[in-house]
Amino acid sequence: MRYTLAVLALTLTCAAPALAQNAMPAAPAVLLTDAIDRPGQDLSGLWAYSTDLYRTAETDINGRPPAPRAMRFRDINVDAEVAKKPDVDFFEFDMDKAPKATLPGAWNAAEPELRWFDGLMWYQRHFTAEAVGNRRAFLRFEAVNYRVKVYVNGQLAGQHEGGFTPFAIEVGKLLRAGDNQVTIGVDSTHDDTTVPPTVTDWDIYGGVTRPIRLIYTPETFIDDEFLHLDLDGHIRGSVHLNGASAGNRDVSVKIGTGKAIALKTDGNGDAHLDIAAPKGLKLWSPDSPTLYDVAFAAGDDTLTDKIGFRTIQAKGTDILLNGKPVFLRGISMHEEEFGANPARRMTPEAIRALLGEIKTGLHGNFVRLAHYPHSELTTRMADEMGLMIWSEIPVYWSVDFGSDKTLLTARHMLAENILRDRNRASVIVWSVGNETPNTPERNRFLATLADDARARDGTRMISAALLVSHNMKNGHIEMAIDDPLVEHLDLMAANTYNGWYGDDKLADVAKETWVMPAGKPMIFSEFGADALAGVHDAKNPMKFTEEYQAEFYRQTLAMADNIPALRGMSPWILKDFQSPRREHPVYQNGWNRKGLISETGVHKEAFDVLANYYVGKEKD
Ligand code: GCU
Repeated sequence: MRYTLAVLALTLTCAAPALAQNAMPAAPAVLLTDAIDRPGQDLSGLWAYSTDLYRTAETDINGRPPAPRAMRFRDINVDAEVAKKPDVDFFEFDMDKAPKATLPGAWNAAEPELRWFDGLMWYQRHFTAEAVGNRRAFLRFEAVNYRVKVYVNGQLAGQHEGGFTPFAIEVGKLLRAGDNQVTIGVDSTHDDTTVPPTVTDWDIYGGVTRPIRLIYTPETFIDDEFLHLDLDGHIRGSVHLNGASAGNRDVSVKIGTGKAIALKTDGNGDAHLDIAAPKGLKLWSPDSPTLYDVAFAAGDDTLTDKIGFRTIQAKGTDILLNGKPVFLRGISMHEEEFGANPARRMTPEAIRALLGEIKTGLHGNFVRLAHYPHSELTTRMADEMGLMIWSEIPVYWSVDFGSDKTLLTARHMLAENILRDRNRASVIVWSVGNETPNTPERNRFLATLADDARARDGTRMISAALLVSHNMKNGHIEMAIDDPLVEHLDLMAANTYNGWYGDDKLADVAKETWVMPAGKPMIFSEFGADALAGVHDAKNPMKFTEEYQAEFYRQTLAMADNIPALRGMSPWILKDFQSPRREHPVYQNGWNRKGLISETGVHKEAFDVLANYYVGKEKD
C-alpha cells in the first residue's frame, strides 16, 4: 500500500505539479526507523574514488547514454575485460586502481586537489554478503550530499536527493552470496531547484558524510515506530510493519520493565497504541534526561529503541516543558567537528566534544542544529546528555519558492527528518526555514511545510528563523517581527545582527525595542559578531576583536532582557566554521568567525559573557 502511494506521489509530481502542492507526499517506501539499533554490516572504510566533472559516466558527448568505457559503475574487472580483446577494448577508468578515500567524510577534506571540487564523484568498494535467502536486504545511507545514484553489481538500485536525511534502498535481489560491488555516483552540485540553493554560508562538504550499512531483515519487519506522551497524560503511538504479511499481525510493545502491551496491525500493517502513562513514569528533561528501553516485537523481528517521555508546548508567551515554563539557554551549531580541516565526519567523540561545550561550558539546555538535519548520533546524544533541540531543513535564503519541484523536494526532506527523529525527546522544534524573503510564493511554500510538519507530528512546536524589520521611531530604533508566516508558527524566532551588520552603533543596541504579534513565545534564533581568537584591543575594540564580540553579546543580552515574550535564544554560533563567503585574508580565510570558540577549541571572551548570563538564567 505505502509503496504504491510513493510511486503515485512521484508520478503525480511529474504529471500535475499543482496537485502535488496540496497532497502531503507519502512517507518513503522503506524507513528502517531506529536502524541504528539493528545489526548490520558497516561499509565505512576505504573506498575507491574517481572524479567525473563532465559526467562522462552519465551521458556521452551528445547527451546519449554513456560509452561503456566510461561507465564507472560496471561490474567488471578492467584488466580482465581488456585482456579479452586487448587490441580493441580500452577504458577511461579503473576503479580497482583508483585512489582511495575514507568514508564517511566529505571529499573536500580528503585531498588538497579536492578542496573546492563541486560536481560528480564516483565511489566504489567491494564487500562480502551472506546469501539473502528469504530475508530482505537494504543499504541504509545516513546522509549523502547532495544527489546520489546507487549501483549494486552494476545494476542501478536506487537514487536520492537531499544531503542530510537518511534513505534505505532494497538490494536483496541484486546481492550475491560472497563478493559484491557497490558503486555510488554522488553529485554535490546545487542549483535553483535544490534545497538548499547554490549559495549558502557554509562549505560544500560533498560526498558521503555519514555511515552506510547493509541491513538484513525478515520478510516482514518493523519499519517504523513512534511513541510519545500527550498533554492528557496518555502515551500514544504507532508501529508500522513492512512486508507481505504486515496486515493483521500481532505486535507487542514493552516500555522499560513494564508489562508487554499486545497490539494487532490493520490491513496497512499499522498498529496503534493508546495507554494511560504508567504510574511513576519519569519524565525527560535537560536536568534529568531519563530514557526508557522500549522493546518492539512482531513475529521474529525485534527492535529496542531508547525513548524519553516529556511534553512540550507553546502556551501564550510561555514554552512549557512537562507543563512548566522553560527558558531555552541555547546556541546554534553547524555539523562540523573541531579541527583545522574538518570533513563533517561526526564521530561520537566529535559530537560529544561540541555538545559538552554547550551543556557544561555554557550551562546551556538547548541547541539549534543549523541549517539542516544533523546526524542521528547528535540527536540521540542530546537525548542522553539532556539538551533540547531545534531541528531544521535547509530551506535557506533564496530557494525557488515558485517551483513545485523544489517544494516537493523540501516536503520529502521534512518528512524524512521528522520520521527519523520523532522519537527523540530532545527535539522540541521543527523548523521549516531560515531567513527567507516575505513573498507570496514563499509564504505559500513555507505555510505548506508548516502544515505538513504539524500533520506528521503534532507533539512539537513548529517554527522558522525569520528576518525582521528595522524601523526608526521618533529617533529610536524599533525592531519588528512582522512576517505573515507567524500565523502558521507556534514559536516566533528572529535573527538579529544589530551592531554587526548594518550601521547601528553597538552602544545603542541595548536600548533598541521590539514589537511583535501577541500571544506567542519568542526566541532569538540568531545573533552574533565575528572575532578572530587572539585578536585583542581593549582600548579601541574594533570589529573582529574579541572585545568587540564580547561587548556585542553584553549589549544584545541587555536588549533581550527587555522583551517580555522572550523565552530563549540560540546565538550564532558555538564554533567558527568554514564558509566560502568569508575571505578576509587576516581575520577570516574561509572561516565565519562568529564562533564563541575557534575551530581549534580556543574560547573567546564572549564565551564567558554568555555562560555567565545562562548561569543567571538557570537560577531564575
Ligand atoms: C545568517 C545566516 C547564517 C550565517 C549568518 C552570518 O543569519 O542564517 O547562516 O552564517 O547569518 O552572517 O554569519
